[in-house]
Amino acid sequence: MKKNKISKNWVNKQHRDIYVRKSKIDGYRARSVYKLIEIDKKFKVFKSGMLVLDIGAAPGSWSQYASKAIKQGRLISVDLKKMEEIKNTIQIKGDFTDPNIKKTIKDYLSKGLDVVMSDMAVNTTGIKNLDAIQTGELCKEAMIFSKNIISTNGFFISKIFMGSIFNEIVALGKSIFKEVKVFKPQSSRKDSKESFIICKKLR
Ligand SMILES: C[S@@+](CC[C@H](N)C(=O)[O-])C[C@H]1O[C@@H](n2cnc3c(N)ncnc32)[C@H](O)[C@@H]1O
Repeated sequence: MKKNKISKNWVNKQHRDIYVRKSKIDGYRARSVYKLIEIDKKFKVFKSGMLVLDIGAAPGSWSQYASKAIKQGRLISVDLKKMEEIKNTIQIKGDFTDPNIKKTIKDYLSKGLDVVMSDMAVNTTGIKNLDAIQTGELCKEAMIFSKNIISTNGFFISKIFMGSIFNEIVALGKSIFKEVKVFKPQSSRKDSKESFIICKKLR
């Protein structure tokens, strides 16, 4: 399919999508927020006072929701792109895989993180298996990074795409955390291979 046809289809899809409309009414920057809300409802993730890291945070709907949910807590948001300010949030602009950015994150930590969440995704190529592998590698890197900075009862949440790397990610999750679940929220588009891994309690 030609590029302008793909973007036309995307625009049409956005207009029809109830979550896009709802996000505008609710004041969220992206429809992605409803996936996190569903995850929070099901797994009871956020509590007042928590310290949270949001990786791949822009334009910021997950951070908007988390910032409200943790009330007086603190949030650190990381993305390649700059985003508009959010209450209680420290923003780091840069590539999460860069060791200097990882060091900057660690320098902000005064205690173990209660939640590490990653919605990082590479620009999709349309080749489903390649997209799954590239986004899966980002998920693995975030999971390994979390191991040393998350509190014992902390949560790790990440976007994954179903594909050849799926079993590897679940196995890595099980080697680091005691509880590992995979969940596809209702608000995640049906035709997308996207799902979420929710891990809890460090081994
Ligand atoms: C699906 S969007 C995140 C949407 C966000 N959760 C929200 O609710 O607004 C994925 C984001 O991952 C970011 N990203 C991809 N690779 C990254 C990397 N290596 N380091 C930091 N951010 C990255 C992209 O810039 C993009 O903003």
